Amino acid sequence: MNYNEAYKKCQEAGQEHVFRYYGSLSEEEKKQLLDQIGSLDLSVIEAAAQGPQKRGVIEPLDVLTLQDLESLKDGFDRAGLSAISQGKVAAVVLAGGMGTRLGSDDPKCMYDIGITKPVYIMQRLIENLKEVTDRTGLSKPPVPLCIMTSDKNHEATVGFMKEHDSFGYPSDMIFYFKQEMAPATGYDRKVLMEDRGVIASSPNGNGGWYISMKRSGVADRLKEMGVEWLNLFSVDNVLQRIADPVFVGGCILNGVVSGAKVVRKAYRDEKVGSICLEDGHPSIVEYYDMTPELLDAVNAKGEPAYAFGVILNYLFRTDALDEIVSRALPLHVVEKKIPYMNEDGEFVKPSEPNGYKYEQLILDMIHEMKDCLPMEVVREKEFAPIKNKTGIDSVESARALCAENGIEL
Ligand code: UTP
Repeated sequence: MNYNEAYKKCQEAGQEHVFRYYGSLSEEEKKQLLDQIGSLDLSVIEAAAQGPQKRGVIEPLDVLTLQDLESLKDGFDRAGLSAISQGKVAAVVLAGGMGTRLGSDDPKCMYDIGITKPVYIMQRLIENLKEVTDRTGLSKPPVPLCIMTSDKNHEATVGFMKEHDSFGYPSDMIFYFKQEMAPATGYDRKVLMEDRGVIASSPNGNGGWYISMKRSGVADRLKEMGVEWLNLFSVDNVLQRIADPVFVGGCILNGVVSGAKVVRKAYRDEKVGSICLEDGHPSIVEYYDMTPELLDAVNAKGEPAYAFGVILNYLFRTDALDEIVSRALPLHVVEKKIPYMNEDGEFVKPSEPNGYKYEQLILDMIHEMKDCLPMEVVREKEFAPIKNKTGIDSVESARALCAENGIEL
């Protein structure tokens, strides 16, 4: 993008202050800034200012509970394992996040949760995936493992995997792709600068993963390999069951285009997104959107109507994703700590949130699907997210859950 085009783009978005130091930049720095302006979608700032979308009519969605699964799980397991053996399922780990709450400078997948030996988060995920691929009896794991990174952590992630020989997973079955970046602003919605010629930016949330996967060519590559289902999951759940045959088989045999693993909420106000129907489509209501009426609603059996929360483990049919890929997802404005350059030209790493990031979220994709099978899983066996160093959803709590499951750390 040339100077005039870049200036016009910023002016139209009310962000021409990014050129404040332009005259003092080297030729290379100028080019980098113009390229960055070319690649960033500045319209998200204005679009997000319209406020959150109004929610539709919320109703309960039937969940396949652990009790229902008792008689069904063997059949699901056989169907799922057969599809997995035929190479129809790929795993996609969403590892582009910044992990700001955990506070490590390295990508989250590199975090070592070991006690007596190193046990990295990515290692745990691959060990879990290998448990399934070993069951196929094939000499080579038939599940492509896709890793979404961002500009901020791509090189570190790829380097780390190389250094550890991808924890024994064949490197020709691992596919990396980078997600897009979004501008970060102060509370006045003016773009912050990271340096005199660099706009502060951050990964654009985990909702844009399929567009990024398509742009990178990885989605086409998987199609050529015969993949029909993508299992999406977050990087930070060290008990994550990946390409779970029961989940895959359940979705196939029920003829749905998507599925979501859910756990029974531990208590009424637990901070997890609740699975439901919204205007007749599957949907997830974030905990901060749950009204007291919804929290206290009961179903025909007199049980809480919205008792199940998602754990960021979804299954999507690729043809259903292709149908919705061009649809815009809602934008979420998130308050975060954003490192920036202050008025005096000093670099500041704030200890408190100082502005907004603009993100699209994968949970909003479920609403675009014509159907979704929510499947209950045992929380203590499958849900050990690491968001913080200590306390709830932390390294400490995940270590305790690993111990309960006989995983040596
Ligand atoms: P979180 O919402 O927990 O964000 O991401 P985070 O970046 O890991 O951590 P905080 O909020 O900064 O502390 C849930 C999952 O989505 C991925 C994360 O890597 C994690 O697996 N994610 C999040 C992305 O892949 N890209 C993003 O832009 C955001």
